[in-house]
Amino acid sequence: MPHHATVSRKTPLHAKLFLLLVTICIATAPAAAKVVAERIGDGVVRYFQNEQARENTLPSLALDHPRPALGDAPAGFAVTPVFSTGPSALHGDERFVTTIDIQPGTSLYGTGETPGPLLRNGRVTECWNYDAYGYDDSYHNLYTSHPWVLAVRPDGTAFGVLADTTYRCEIDLTEGIVFRADGPPHPVIVIDGPTPKDVLQKLGELTGTIEMPPRWAIGYHQCRYSYFPDSRVKEVADTFRAKHIPADVIWMDIDYMDGFRCFTFDKDKFPDPAGLNAYLDSIGFSNVWMIDPGIKNEEGYFVHDSGTKANVWVQDKDGNEYHGYVWPGECVFPDFTNKNVRSWWSGLYTDFMANGINGVWNDMNEPAVFNVATKTMPEDNIHRADPEFGGPGPHARFHNVYGMLMVRATREGVMATNPDKRPFVLSRANYIGGQRYGATWTGDNTANWYHVDVSIPMMLNLSLSGQPFCGPDIGGFAGDGDGAMFARWIGFGALMPFSRGHTAKGNINKEPWAFGEEVEATARRALERRYRLMPMLYTLFEEAHRTGLPVARPTFFADPTDPALRSEDDSFLLGDNLLVAADVTPGRERVHILPRPVGGVAWRRFDFPGFDGLPDSTDPDLPTLYIRPGGIIPAAPVHEYFGDRPDQRDELTLLVCLDADGKASGTLYEDAGEGWGFRDGQYLRTEYTATRMNNEIVVQTKTLGGKMKRPDRTLKVRVLLPDGREITGAGRDGRRVRVAFED
Ligand code: NOJ
Repeated sequence: MPHHATVSRKTPLHAKLFLLLVTICIATAPAAAKVVAERIGDGVVRYFQNEQARENTLPSLALDHPRPALGDAPAGFAVTPVFSTGPSALHGDERFVTTIDIQPGTSLYGTGETPGPLLRNGRVTECWNYDAYGYDDSYHNLYTSHPWVLAVRPDGTAFGVLADTTYRCEIDLTEGIVFRADGPPHPVIVIDGPTPKDVLQKLGELTGTIEMPPRWAIGYHQCRYSYFPDSRVKEVADTFRAKHIPADVIWMDIDYMDGFRCFTFDKDKFPDPAGLNAYLDSIGFSNVWMIDPGIKNEEGYFVHDSGTKANVWVQDKDGNEYHGYVWPGECVFPDFTNKNVRSWWSGLYTDFMANGINGVWNDMNEPAVFNVATKTMPEDNIHRADPEFGGPGPHARFHNVYGMLMVRATREGVMATNPDKRPFVLSRANYIGGQRYGATWTGDNTANWYHVDVSIPMMLNLSLSGQPFCGPDIGGFAGDGDGAMFARWIGFGALMPFSRGHTAKGNINKEPWAFGEEVEATARRALERRYRLMPMLYTLFEEAHRTGLPVARPTFFADPTDPALRSEDDSFLLGDNLLVAADVTPGRERVHILPRPVGGVAWRRFDFPGFDGLPDSTDPDLPTLYIRPGGIIPAAPVHEYFGDRPDQRDELTLLVCLDADGKASGTLYEDAGEGWGFRDGQYLRTEYTATRMNNEIVVQTKTLGGKMKRPDRTLKVRVLLPDGREITGAGRDGRRVRVAFED
């Protein structure tokens, strides 16, 4: 109980005021200073600086829906943030500061899209979406913002910290974990878990997971800035088929538009987009077309006029339309923080998608603005945001979510138009949780060896920040590079979750055949590997959708207790069972550290036979593949695109690596690859197990879920025995398969 001072009518006024002040201070000070900690999930605690900060907090745009408190924080919860104020390390201005101590030997990851190595200890990252063309190691901020750190303690247990703010925020990992954010005090969410996987699954529960992508989007994508006219698009697509190089998707960058006006088509270069898409479809190619946020400020242009009529544009500080320059010249920008604006934007996709468009690419949505030092709109521009986003506010508050809200509106429009199809949207700018709406790529990298080197860690740190569907511009966006570099890049890029070749205007061609026959052969082998591994990749995407676990994982996930693996980032895991070890330097001088043997059995190197009959591993530009002892990898025959070779469904190969006990297991998820039938059980999840019994390996099939009929197909089995031998056998899927061998 607070003490109350006695005040009589005789007390002079100034003394009364003084006493009142003292009373207020005594009554409120202890409570005001007290950090509020509330449980919002299992092992998940949200902290506020004090009760007042809790009451005034802005709604979270990271969480997929508001999380009420479930009770007090568990007693002795492992991680406690300390709140204060202090100067920004990068800019010097006063910020709201959160500090979290770490014990020595703790490894730090995440922080979203950030150049440099996987291990983030000692680094400063800034969350402020930025058009970072040609970025390098000196950049603190790139296109997306993830105010999130994953910490792995020396014993392999883990915790994650999310600074739940949309404002500019720096993540300083030079000493412990420090967030310094602009704007008012924000909550901090801590997830504590026994393993890094557990923490990531909880992050997925909080911020949402990817929707199940269409199967074609997991194939290889070919892009450039820009393929035009339409005959060139056809030529590129035809060449893939003529050369039997697997690919599913071809992309239309901005030059398809009429004067860079979004939702229009250049009448000369693309007179018949629907016809082009139909042609592409007839040869098994899906298509993706770009849409930017900058809308040409031009009367008579239907998007401009309808937007102006609906009053959708971001305003300057005085409430006038804000104008900035992008590709089409002077532009206006939709205010995606507003529901009416989002539904107007979504509506634009109806006619656009009617041209047979499959996927949409949202670019430049930091938003990028030309000819200004900040490369974006002023921070005091006004957004007329929805109440559930905290109501109207300055651009400083909404900058980091502008891209996410754009891609959300795009996705809604695409879905409203094609409700029976799974949308695919790629967005350059995004925010933590934005995996709910679209995939991301790592922006305008450069064709040099530094960018070959950072491709894997950048993809991994995005994956460790909730965004599993990501990858780099294979071959490099800025600059030409050369065949040696391209071969290496596509070698491992073909196994990235999002696998797309792209390059800038004015550069040499970078299609898989552009560097001569030898590089073409490497690219074909690399992409054939991706398509062979498609059953496993698709299974991992479904797992990412269902559980929040990333498709690609750092090598240390194989054994979080092994300190030797903590900074290993020339290799990555796909799921639990496959390790991809790449040579990312020209001289290949780096040594890979492999996970320790399991029960005395080492991870086993394997390869597929290439198109030319030679084992893929004879190609030094391809990464080395290893399978985990105890793992089973499901693989398909080589095919060139989703839907190619109807007989591909007639054969499944299990690659089996027995552990020390002579056992192995793995799962396979299958569905139609498109549409929503899987939500009603139209899928099949299978567990395959292999057991050594004397001189025989017995493979068994167990249906774990789904009511899709098991395809009537051959089950081929390739068993890698611990003594180095390989044996093969075959039977029918669903039945017991026995593979005998001699001792
Ligand atoms: C910038 C993007 O990052 C790049 O990928 C694209 O090709 C250009 N904009 C042109 O649209």
